[in-house]
Amino acid sequence: MSALPPNLLPLTSSQDAQGHLRIGGVDLLDLAADFGTPLFVYDEEHLRSRAAAAVGALGPDGAIYATKAFLCRAMARLAHEEGMRLDVATGGELAVALAAGVPADRLVMHGNNKASWELRAALDAGVGRIVVDSAVELERIEALVAEGFEAPRVLLRINPGIEVHTHEHITTGNPDSKFGFPLSTGQAQEAVQRARRSGAVELVGLHMHIGSQVFSVDNFLEGLRTVAPFVGGEDLPEFIVGGGLGVAYVEGEEAPTLESWAAAVRQTCEDVGIHSAVAAEPGRAIVAQAAVTLYEVGTIKFIPGVRTYVAVDGGMSDNPRPVLYGSGYETFLPRAVAAEREMPIRLVGKHCESGDLIVREGAVPADLAVGDIVATPVTGAYGHSMGSNYNKVLRPPVVFVSGGEARLVVRGETVADLLATDLG
Ligand SMILES: Cc1ncc(COP(=O)(O)O)c(C=O)c1O
Repeated sequence: MSALPPNLLPLTSSQDAQGHLRIGGVDLLDLAADFGTPLFVYDEEHLRSRAAAAVGALGPDGAIYATKAFLCRAMARLAHEEGMRLDVATGGELAVALAAGVPADRLVMHGNNKASWELRAALDAGVGRIVVDSAVELERIEALVAEGFEAPRVLLRINPGIEVHTHEHITTGNPDSKFGFPLSTGQAQEAVQRARRSGAVELVGLHMHIGSQVFSVDNFLEGLRTVAPFVGGEDLPEFIVGGGLGVAYVEGEEAPTLESWAAAVRQTCEDVGIHSAVAAEPGRAIVAQAAVTLYEVGTIKFIPGVRTYVAVDGGMSDNPRPVLYGSGYETFLPRAVAAEREMPIRLVGKHCESGDLIVREGAVPADLAVGDIVATPVTGAYGHSMGSNYNKVLRPPVVFVSGGEARLVVRGETVADLLATDLG
């Protein structure tokens, strides 16, 4: 296999005289030494530039960062500072965004099963919008408003009933889905009537989301054409088209740019008679390529005629995507970022599962040794945020790098953290 394609690395990546990779002007090997491994390293300039690009393409009210992709207070603040609104899908995400100082009216509250306490927290904070997903949720809001909360501005999530080309676990707009009010059965139409009659909500718009890691702009446009008669006909002031724009993870993949996706979506809305203010909720497209994960090589097992297993100090607990979706990643050595990767390997974690793969088909330079720092690029989305404590493995720290400095934004967990909720 050839050298790592540079387009998979964060924006400020550069190679120093020794061949080491620097991000934000910082040598990754120094970061591994200073903060330990595994370690998530985010290029702050990359994050800011993607967020600013989204605002440029969609406008300040049209660009909504989907925090499920990666959330900590520093990230929430950054997205807000760059002018984005934030999509929060649970009471936990809401709490982190508020703790970061994001004004509640810049938050869009999501979730297909919002509990009363989550709705109460959203109403209490005064979130800008609630995206209602079911009739039961509407009743929960009505009950809370009867207690004295102000009627919130809401959008209804509709299920357009279309198939998209991505993993089935991340398609959300197909006819058989837990999300939203189905269009094909007439339930979306009924929900609009119901919300218009309710004195407990101010219906301002409709929402849809077709899936995640979608590469084909046509899939999005097809979705828009499907919902156009309904969305255009209801003529509500706002329409959110969801997120889902795919990103390249491995050599040879190409994704549409955020700018071209946003332009096509806006143009199509106009063409099909949707005159509402259009907003979108990119998550992965903002953060995925901003980060790399660093691991230390613990064992190298060459099995003649089979393969070479390289085991590192993380695994499915810091990146469950390969296990969940069969997702592919690349591997490289930060000490020799431009080197040819002649040795095929399988990069595995330290969990007690054969399925604990980080990279099924990886490759590294042939001089790989125990103790080396190995990295996986494009790990900024749905890695840290989907991480777990499986096998009581400690969650890794997160650093933001910029201008030659590293800033610890999430510290690594300790055994004391693990025991903090265990009452013995
Ligand atoms: C409603 C909604 N909006 C936005 C997103 C973000 O998707 P992505 O990170 O693929 O852009 C998701 C992801 O599942 C979602 O469910």
